[in-house]
Amino acid sequence: MAKVIRVGLLGCGTVGGGVVRILDREARDIAVRVGGQLLVTRVGVRDLAKDRQLPLPADAFTDDLLSVVEADDVDVIVEVMGGRDPAGGLIRRALELGKPVVTANKELVAHEGPELYELAESSGVDLMYEAAVAGAIPIIRPLKQSLAGDRVRRVVGILNGTTNYILTKMTEEGASYDAVLSEAQRLGYAEADPTADVGGHDAASKTAILASLAFDSKVHADDVFREGIENVTATDISVADRLGYVIKLLGIASEVDDQVAVRVHPTFLPKAHPLAAVRESFNAIYVEADAAGELMFYGRGAGALPTGSAVVGDLIDAARNVQQTTRGPVESVHRGRSIRPIQELQTQYYVLLDVDDTAGVLAAVATTFGKNDVSIAQVWQEGQGDRAQLVLITHRALEGALRSCVRDLQGTEGVRNVASVMRVEAEVFS
Ligand code: NAP
Ligand code: HSE
Repeated sequence: MAKVIRVGLLGCGTVGGGVVRILDREARDIAVRVGGQLLVTRVGVRDLAKDRQLPLPADAFTDDLLSVVEADDVDVIVEVMGGRDPAGGLIRRALELGKPVVTANKELVAHEGPELYELAESSGVDLMYEAAVAGAIPIIRPLKQSLAGDRVRRVVGILNGTTNYILTKMTEEGASYDAVLSEAQRLGYAEADPTADVGGHDAASKTAILASLAFDSKVHADDVFREGIENVTATDISVADRLGYVIKLLGIASEVDDQVAVRVHPTFLPKAHPLAAVRESFNAIYVEADAAGELMFYGRGAGALPTGSAVVGDLIDAARNVQQTTRGPVESVHRGRSIRPIQELQTQYYVLLDVDDTAGVLAAVATTFGKNDVSIAQVWQEGQGDRAQLVLITHRALEGALRSCVRDLQGTEGVRNVASVMRVEAEVFS
């Protein structure tokens, strides 16, 4: 077993550092599993002066990333730099050169995945991205391989640790969104610019990747309907709690007729659902398939070693395939499903209204719902006088109808403000 497989790393930050540490710590077992030694020969970074405290020779580092891809002493590329550019161009170049690529880059895969899969297939090499969705949790391989003989009907995920941490603290401590976000930033859990996480962009990228695999179709990040958690209030959380729900930011991909519905939004989720028990920064993915039934995958969605674990798993697979001059299974987009417009989806809704506490207001509100063909399942008043609020839970209704109802509520006599609107996923998960 003398063979050495030479690895070029693009990026050596949080995840890259985790990868290098795991490769060093597990070198002997990995060599046996691969059938050859994995050796990091080149590392592309931005700042050559940084002290990275990693078991790598100083002369492996360069700020010329293309030279890493094109080097004769690199057999496999690991891209852990992030962003679409220049990462996308570098990955394309590697694939064109016939070098397998392992990446953790959800943003790139969610926007350009199907084009990259095609390029990898035509070059006859692997493109692997297990770490791009939910860090350490194996979910790409199960969808692509283990469930290849089954028919997946729905994938529902808690795919962003930062937002799950914030919602958990709001639920368990009754704290406001702003207070928990500030605490999360102080503790280093949330980024200084948290937009990608709290705005649902990160979860939308991951949901797009899962939807593509689950439904054999091209689903891009821009196809995902997205709402973040910025407007979730302590009142929303307490109403949900009293009704037997928790609020979670869910990525939901499902088959509706012959289309794929794909969305990310804060959701009232029954407390009895397995995903409701996923606390703090943990991630989980719940899969429903015809033959397998219900499956749930749970674990750490981020961090140097958890994410590094997924990258190294892919790297071992890719290196083994290099050894055997083969490649792993390819993605399929043969079903070519179109995207279901959000207006055509049906779900239940929670609506919170600031209202005048006077006679006739409830009747006017009920008329507005009726006119828009949205049936009310429950209604009650919170507070009195200046603080009066109406809480309504609807039966299942079309999103388009609900939106029209919300527009009309804004002009309904006695309604001062539509304070919250959120989707309630009760029946589909019961
Ligand atoms: P990071 O800590 O910011 O590291 C990025 C690395 O890439 C750094 O070494 C940086 O060089 C290098 N880099 C970035 N842009 C470059 C450029 N234009 N030219 C040269 N070098 C460049 O990022 P990370 O947290 O490790 O994330 C890496 C990837 O993993 C991203 O795609 C991310 O979405 C994904 N991911 C991360 C996590 C996580 O827990 N962090 C989890 C799942 C997936 P310097 O070190 O010199 O600045
Ligand atoms: N920022 C992400 C999260 C981790 O909070 O889950 C990387 O995907």
